[in-house]
Amino acid sequence: MSKPKVIVTRRWPPAVEARLQELFDVSLNESDQPMTADQLKEALKNYDAVLPTVTDPMPADVLNVEPLRAKVLGNFGVGFNHIDIQAAKTRGLTVTNTPDVLTDCTADIAMTLMLMVARRTGEGERQVRAGQWTGWRPTHLLGTKVTGKTLGLIGFGRIARAMAKKAHYGFDMQVIFYDPFPPSDEVSKSLGAKPCASVEEVLRNADFVALHCPGSKENHHLIDAARLAMMKPTAYLINSARGDVVDNQALILALKNKTIAGAGLDVFEGEPDLDKGFLELDNAVLLPHLGSATAETRVAMGMRVIENVTAFFAGETPRDKVV
Ligand code: DGY
Repeated sequence: MSKPKVIVTRRWPPAVEARLQELFDVSLNESDQPMTADQLKEALKNYDAVLPTVTDPMPADVLNVEPLRAKVLGNFGVGFNHIDIQAAKTRGLTVTNTPDVLTDCTADIAMTLMLMVARRTGEGERQVRAGQWTGWRPTHLLGTKVTGKTLGLIGFGRIARAMAKKAHYGFDMQVIFYDPFPPSDEVSKSLGAKPCASVEEVLRNADFVALHCPGSKENHHLIDAARLAMMKPTAYLINSARGDVVDNQALILALKNKTIAGAGLDVFEGEPDLDKGFLELDNAVLLPHLGSATAETRVAMGMRVIENVTAFFAGETPRDKVV
């Protein structure tokens, strides 16, 4: 029997590409250039499986291509807001993602952002590199203590829970959260976390607000000017979820006017073309979507895609079937 024809939209870690070559008739993207909408359409017309990642938009216009050969989209990433899931379902496409394997590393980046922005480490590093450090002094770059403060989580899925655990047990933080589908009291208690009745309750009470909700139409600009105004003026916003959960213009204004103390951001609306207003803000830490970017996790993500797609072609239900 001939092997399924599979196309990968970006470069993947070498060990995963080697495994793909063993299992499938695979086309790799050696140039690592993002594929255009037309190239994605061609891929859907000519391959049994397309393996996209979180930066490959797949709206209905792309998925509605004729004739459609692809049967499965094995997404490299846990987030699938770049794929029109309804259109995929209508076309009979199976979509899978890669949960679990990136949980800890993404929570670690949220912790990194929280510590960096509170302790002004980005500012400090810029000073050292610019040769502007004049030596230790009692009032130099005073930040905010993290240990013992209140962390507020918006969304309480896997990554938020991992962050709660690290913050509560590692940094003695009180953890509060809002999630429309909260876990049992037992699970919350084991993570030292207390449920709130609304997003607003979290915003009003947290010293650090960390966003862990999915990117979706419903969550677009969930954090807007009105909600930013509910945060304490001493509080920080951490976003390692999706850029468009926050109204970036409103955030830039809040940071400029210091109505909140700072923000740690790993994701941006329209990334990588982030609003230039962010670059002028010393009270913002800006990272280039590094959440899952460790060698171990990126290999595990790729292997998880392989597991899903292999199961699909074996006639089984893939472990991470989204639709
Ligand atoms: C994901 O998997 O959705 C992440 O954003 C990639 O780090």
